[in-house]
Amino acid sequence: MNFKKRTNFLFGALLLTGSLLAQNVCVSTPKTSLVLSVPEGGTLRHLYYGNRLSEADLQNISAAEANHAAYPEYGLNAPVETALAVKHADGNMTLQLEVLNVTTEKEGNAVTTVVALKDKVYPFFVNVCYRAWQDADVIESWTEISHQEKKPVVLNQFASGYLPIRRGDVWLSHLSGSWANEGVLTQEPLTPGMKVIKNKDGVRNSHTDHAEVMFSLDGRPQENTGNVIGAALCYSGNYKLRIETHDDEYHHFFAGINEENSTYSLKKDELFRTPELALTYSNEGLSGGASRNFHRWARLHKLAHGTTPRKILLNSWEGVYFDINQQGMDQMMADIASMGGELFVMDDGWFGDKYPRKNDSSSLGDWVVDKNKLPNGIEGLLSDAKKHGVKFGIWIEPEMANTTSELYEKHPDWVLKASERDVVLGRGGTQVVLDLANPAVQDFVFGVVDNLMTSYPEIDYIKWDANMSVQNHGSQYLTKDNQSHMYIEFHRGFEKICQRIRAKYPDLTIQACASGGGRANYGVLPYFDEFWVSDNTDALQRVYMQWGTSYFFPAIAMASHISAAPNHQTFRTIPLKYRIDVAMSGRLGMEIQPKNMTEEEKALCKNAIAEYKTIRPVVQLGDIYRLLSPYDKQGVASLMYVASEKDKAVFYWWKTEHFCNQHLPRVKMAGLCADKQYRVHELNRIDNVPLNYEGKSFSGAYLMANGLEIPYNHKVDYHKQNDYSSRVLYLEEVK
Ligand code: GLA
Repeated sequence: MNFKKRTNFLFGALLLTGSLLAQNVCVSTPKTSLVLSVPEGGTLRHLYYGNRLSEADLQNISAAEANHAAYPEYGLNAPVETALAVKHADGNMTLQLEVLNVTTEKEGNAVTTVVALKDKVYPFFVNVCYRAWQDADVIESWTEISHQEKKPVVLNQFASGYLPIRRGDVWLSHLSGSWANEGVLTQEPLTPGMKVIKNKDGVRNSHTDHAEVMFSLDGRPQENTGNVIGAALCYSGNYKLRIETHDDEYHHFFAGINEENSTYSLKKDELFRTPELALTYSNEGLSGGASRNFHRWARLHKLAHGTTPRKILLNSWEGVYFDINQQGMDQMMADIASMGGELFVMDDGWFGDKYPRKNDSSSLGDWVVDKNKLPNGIEGLLSDAKKHGVKFGIWIEPEMANTTSELYEKHPDWVLKASERDVVLGRGGTQVVLDLANPAVQDFVFGVVDNLMTSYPEIDYIKWDANMSVQNHGSQYLTKDNQSHMYIEFHRGFEKICQRIRAKYPDLTIQACASGGGRANYGVLPYFDEFWVSDNTDALQRVYMQWGTSYFFPAIAMASHISAAPNHQTFRTIPLKYRIDVAMSGRLGMEIQPKNMTEEEKALCKNAIAEYKTIRPVVQLGDIYRLLSPYDKQGVASLMYVASEKDKAVFYWWKTEHFCNQHLPRVKMAGLCADKQYRVHELNRIDNVPLNYEGKSFSGAYLMANGLEIPYNHKVDYHKQNDYSSRVLYLEEVK
């Protein structure tokens, strides 16, 4: 439905739907309500967001709640923080938006409510849109901005959404970090002033801060109790989240594209659509409500193939780095097959003809097989994979080039670069970012996948990497006047490419990697099956990183690999058992040279892979219950996944500090059915003797009230003792 058509709907439509009152509109999910006041010719106002309201409470909600402009615009109340600020064609800097009409529409499992606004004087329009999922407690909101002024209108600020949050003891949980240290959880009370979380990388947006936050509304954040609002901006590019706290009773939360160096010149009749801001509300705490709500929504609606369990894979990167060759790949495929794995992924280093990819200083853009390394080409690799009974996947970094490449020699005009300046170079001293605003470049990038897939339709998996920021501001494609559109057009181009790929290759599995966890966001996930959490595969640090990342993303999307010891990033030596137990809490894979493993190690991995196949649906499709945070520094971290029927669960326990005679808390379980009996079975056991309660059963009530006593160390032969300890327990209902 186009914008104009939609705005022609009658205002009376409001009265036709059940939960709507004359001047209010209620946007509902099964457990939540968002209420807006929509007086025709008046201001759209936010009244309420929280637990689902009864019809009776809805009647009087206007009397009980303070109200705020739901999409505050700049101009006639200039001192307040705003979502939208423009300069009209005639230079006027103000907006005064009034409600034209409201429409609702059911599409599948969602109800979309659109409040059409128009400026009182100017032909300037904003649709404020809400998509309420009926099978997940998430409401997505976004806006559609357009005008019919004679000349372009400049958008100076264009947030996706705004939410007032009542002051009290409100705490913010958010993720920050850096390369090899992604997803670091910070929890802090909101205090007066402006809290800004933003990204300006241009390409990747989750290496440092994340575009998702949670607000714990009644004091210090709790995992399984308390009222929580979760918010995730569904965007792959630069974003800005602002929380303003000044002299009134509310925190004012805004989220949207980062407008810095991105003012947008909007032409007459052009539609500017902001990315969705997804909101969830729960009174069951962080992991309780907010994470599980996001995970469910992600699996059902936001993540490619969100309800299909993932294959167990071996990735070649840490095993061989750039040292790819036919025989080596064949050996790795044989090894992962012999351990029960299902997929082999050949990482970086396989391509380049005139400039073969020996290291990271050349060849990006030249997506042809290096025949010296792989004389039998991809055909040879695919027939090896077939021989070993595993699927085959391949690494590409298609948005990038190196200046040492045939692509750059042919198309120096295809890279992002400021006019009159030398191009700024990235990884390997020669990397450059392609100008995805340019349709010819979009065709090329789509072609990288399309050529691979048409030539080799058996390719099952693509690891799509992006290892550079936008270093220099300049598009060689955009006009001089539109240079400030560069960041936005890059991500529009990226999304168009993704849409073309998904239209043609709906079944392909694609991983979003961006120097590790640089693309963990709900902007890319509709097109990607998973993301690489971090280039850091150190199991101890992964406990922290995966903990934070699990706030917003389900385990099915979090690629988590068993790697070598000492670890290649931290150089820490962690025993294989612990490395396995951590990797098994996400989408399990391996990132190691199997030929350097002992037979005993291979046997341990083989067993773990077999056990993971049993628990895979619980881990990847179940509900998360975070039990004891590594950030609480109590010496242990613990979480569990529970199947939706509550008949199966997997409990993880990882010691995070190691001292003699230390005292650790006993961890209570959660999410089980109190009345059910569960039989306990330890997975990945290395101890010489089973746990006392191996094979025994306990009620959900007992396990949730008491937990189980976990031995702090492993009972293994003296020469196998070490300072790490971890347990994975599988609970199955006794019927
Ligand atoms: C990035 C990725 C790694 C690996 C290398 C290859 O760093 O995050 O997993 O693919 O590139 O160059």
